[in-house]
Amino acid sequence: METHDSANDPDQLSRRRFLRTVGAASAVGAAGGGVLGAAVVAGAAAQAQPRTAEPDKLAGELEIELDVNGAKQKCMVEPRTTLLSALRDRLEPALTGTKLVCDNGNCGACTVLVDGEPVYACLTLAVRARGRKVTTIEGVAKDGELSALQQSFCEHDALMCGFCTPGFVMSISACLAKKPGASLDEIKHACAGNLCRCGTYPHIFDAALAVARGAQGGPR
Ligand code: FES
Ligand code: FES
Repeated sequence: METHDSANDPDQLSRRRFLRTVGAASAVGAAGGGVLGAAVVAGAAAQAQPRTAEPDKLAGELEIELDVNGAKQKCMVEPRTTLLSALRDRLEPALTGTKLVCDNGNCGACTVLVDGEPVYACLTLAVRARGRKVTTIEGVAKDGELSALQQSFCEHDALMCGFCTPGFVMSISACLAKKPGASLDEIKHACAGNLCRCGTYPHIFDAALAVARGAQGGPR
């Protein structure tokens, strides 16, 4: 004869878990944790809701058009493809000047400009860049001429391994585009999201300040 083992019945287990949670919530509420108690009760109620079907998942590749450094290019991406991956892996020719370092929004090595604003390309979906102007480090020099900031980086020895350098150049370029005579504090603030593991910060700030002072009419 088939016996019913309630200890292993998923329905029984979920009912027991629900009752235990509600009991705990009541205890918290009675102890004076009004908002906390309400939150726990709400959480318990949410747990008790029947699970709904998984939403449809987006899958496969789609063609998008990116406007990068003034040139429109089509490429195939998945909905989850980051802008960083699209630039480095999906464009032809690949734009590998934007660096992949942490890939999780910690270091700023992947900084690019989207409509003039610095963003972490590793945290930006490629599809979100459609219809917007993307500028990468490859688009900073014009007609083979380094920008004043890039030139200043060279003159001030503002890099060692160079992995962080494109990101710093993009962040500071955006800052100086908005305020050509930016102060040291404003420059530091602009690249607060960029890390340099080699510790070249003093040289980077010297390089940026030289350009800002030049814009102020002072010596570079
Ligand atoms: S690679 Fe994007 S923040 Fe580090
Ligand atoms: S120069 Fe090496 S991480 Fe900045």
